Amino acid sequence: MKHPFFAWVGLRPLIAQHTEAEHCALEKYVRGCKSVVEIGVAEGASAVALKTSMSPEGALYLVDPFHLSRVRMLNFLRRAARRAVSTKRDTRIVWIEAFSHEVAATWNRPIDFLLIDGDHREAAVEQDWNDWHPHITENGIIAFHDARLFQGGWTSPEYGPVRFVDRVFRSENSSPWAVIEEVDSLVFVRRKERGSA
Ligand SMILES: C[S@@+](CC[C@H](N)C(=O)[O-])C[C@H]1O[C@@H](n2cnc3c(N)ncnc32)[C@H](O)[C@@H]1O
Repeated sequence: MKHPFFAWVGLRPLIAQHTEAEHCALEKYVRGCKSVVEIGVAEGASAVALKTSMSPEGALYLVDPFHLSRVRMLNFLRRAARRAVSTKRDTRIVWIEAFSHEVAATWNRPIDFLLIDGDHREAAVEQDWNDWHPHITENGIIAFHDARLFQGGWTSPEYGPVRFVDRVFRSENSSPWAVIEEVDSLVFVRRKERGSA
């Protein structure tokens, strides 16, 4: 029953790759946001959290190449995600089936909330950060998933997002960005207020 086919046909709930506390934290920080981007959608469980809580007048951009399916034509992961996200409210959903670095090459919209949960290699997380953070609005927020160790959790110090967040936000005091909250493996960052950097 783990195969996304079973989620697509409705025989099991979505496999959320995040905890309930993370789900609630995503809902809290995305509340009222109008331009929301998720990198790494999988079955769409976190996309549902974003869609449910963001402004219904906004747009949710979902970036995932869905390249891991063994039978690309059937691609049940993509089907399960589309089914899950399309069943809740009518916020505008924009599916972008491509790698995040490809999408970033032509991206030109401001972003209120960005969730980075795609390629977990440290260099890829760094590229997502470099490519996407210039588009974040003044009070906008970026959330990194799998970026922190927590009691009973699955992350380790070698995880790419953990290494990246530790290096950039915990060791570099000169960064104009600061961690504002951490919930299980999720780390939320925002620009420091002017004068406090
Ligand atoms: C950990 S899962 C995402 C889980 C999802 N956010 C959730 O909480 O339910 C990672 C996803 O990232 C996608 N992915 C991998 N590399 C990517 C990239 N460079 N750009 C965008 N998505 C990527 C994979 O196809 C996979 O679906």
